[in-house]
Amino acid sequence: MENQPETTVRVHRRIIIFPLPLQGHINPMLQLANLLYSKGFSITILHTNFNAPKISNYPHFTFISVLDNGPENEHFSKSSLIEFAHKFIFKQEGADELRVQLERLLASGKDEPVSCLITDALWHFTQSVADSLNLPRLVLRTTSVYSTIVYSSIPLLDDRGYFTLDQSHWEEHVEEFPLLKVKDILKMGIKSIKDPYAELIGDMVKQAKASSGIIWNSFKELEETELQRVQIDFSIPRFLFPFPKYFAASSSSLLEQDRTVFPWLDQQLPKSVLYVSFGSISQVKEEEYLEIAHGLVNSKQPFLWVVRPGLVTGSTWLESLPDGFPGEKGRVVEWAPQQEVLAHEATGAFWTHGGWNSTLESVCEGVAMICSPFLGDQPLDARFISQVLRIGVYLENGLQREEISNAIRRVMVDEEGKEIRDRARAWKQKANVSIIKGGSSTESIESLVNYISSF
Ligand code: UDX
Repeated sequence: MENQPETTVRVHRRIIIFPLPLQGHINPMLQLANLLYSKGFSITILHTNFNAPKISNYPHFTFISVLDNGPENEHFSKSSLIEFAHKFIFKQEGADELRVQLERLLASGKDEPVSCLITDALWHFTQSVADSLNLPRLVLRTTSVYSTIVYSSIPLLDDRGYFTLDQSHWEEHVEEFPLLKVKDILKMGIKSIKDPYAELIGDMVKQAKASSGIIWNSFKELEETELQRVQIDFSIPRFLFPFPKYFAASSSSLLEQDRTVFPWLDQQLPKSVLYVSFGSISQVKEEEYLEIAHGLVNSKQPFLWVVRPGLVTGSTWLESLPDGFPGEKGRVVEWAPQQEVLAHEATGAFWTHGGWNSTLESVCEGVAMICSPFLGDQPLDARFISQVLRIGVYLENGLQREEISNAIRRVMVDEEGKEIRDRARAWKQKANVSIIKGGSSTESIESLVNYISSF
């Protein structure tokens, strides 16, 4: 795993890359950009000022700011996120501006022709812009292949009435996706096919299918069955490989990562620490926050907890925690170098919200998980982790201290936990094998490079 690509022979072709400006989308897109750079392509990143990437960490890329005129580097303020999402993500304003920018780039690329545009799948309006310029567009879908299938079945799930079922049906299995319970579908956050979020997903799916190819941060062995199934709906070229195995996500972190965690981790016993983080957008209520704190202490395991400013609604940071917390066994930080923490030998398990980047980072480091999904694809990931891969447990009844400490002990202490942890280590091995010469991920990258070179 690298932070920056080594300089290689340049192929004198340029790829234009347009990430969605949210942490969980920026990280995989910049990992992908580094990977393509390492294959000889020149890279231009289109970015918004809202959540702008740390340009100084990427001296090998060209950056162009597009769409918004907000103040630079405005990170994670809830009001600015809502404003941005409303205008650019939900309404997808900006097609004309993007077309002008792309025309300029295509015209200026005589020595280094532009091969293609790669955007986050959620930037669906970019497909018609790319079509109008005869520019091939590939999409990066930042979720799993499995979630992609479920998301493309939202109209079917709506037809069958799942989104309006009441609590008495929560524990029932979804006929079309037997792995899922009704409550998982409801947790995705869709109320009806007509709500703006569902419309956004619908447009994303439609324009991804119209694109020249789709890329996932995953690997063949991890989602073999799902890959068979997705090809029915997505009959476009498909590529997948585990991004964290090639480049760390840390250089695109929008928040400062607290590196003082390492001297603390160095003092802990091997595989003894529970790392806890719920990603970049999840929020908990104050009651849940206290349940988490008590659950952690009651588990009697050392823990490293990321309490991102804004994680707790109505609270700035730690002020509502009980006196004496975190005690001798715990450490709380605002933001951590997550991938390196997962790779540290003291880390024994990861309590996660099941965001797909976190999931893949954990799989790549062979770390077992406890999943507390909040929204979107996270409940689907939680089922996949706990029931398909069987490398974690799903805390599916909310956040209660007793269930929390039981789950921690199940994964970190009990006999059952040993099997879960062994399986997690085996998946790391499979990811490693996929990236060697002749491995499935290596082949997928080669075919992506050949495909882009053919444009
Ligand atoms: C969301 C969705 O949950 C995810 O499934 C989707 O694919 C992208 O959008 P997010 O909730 O932020 O993303 O979670 P996740 O996908 O796990 O991404 C979080 C990223 O932040 C990871 O790359 C992780 O390494 C990084 N991180 C997290 C840190 O660098 N430090 C931290 O302390 C916590």
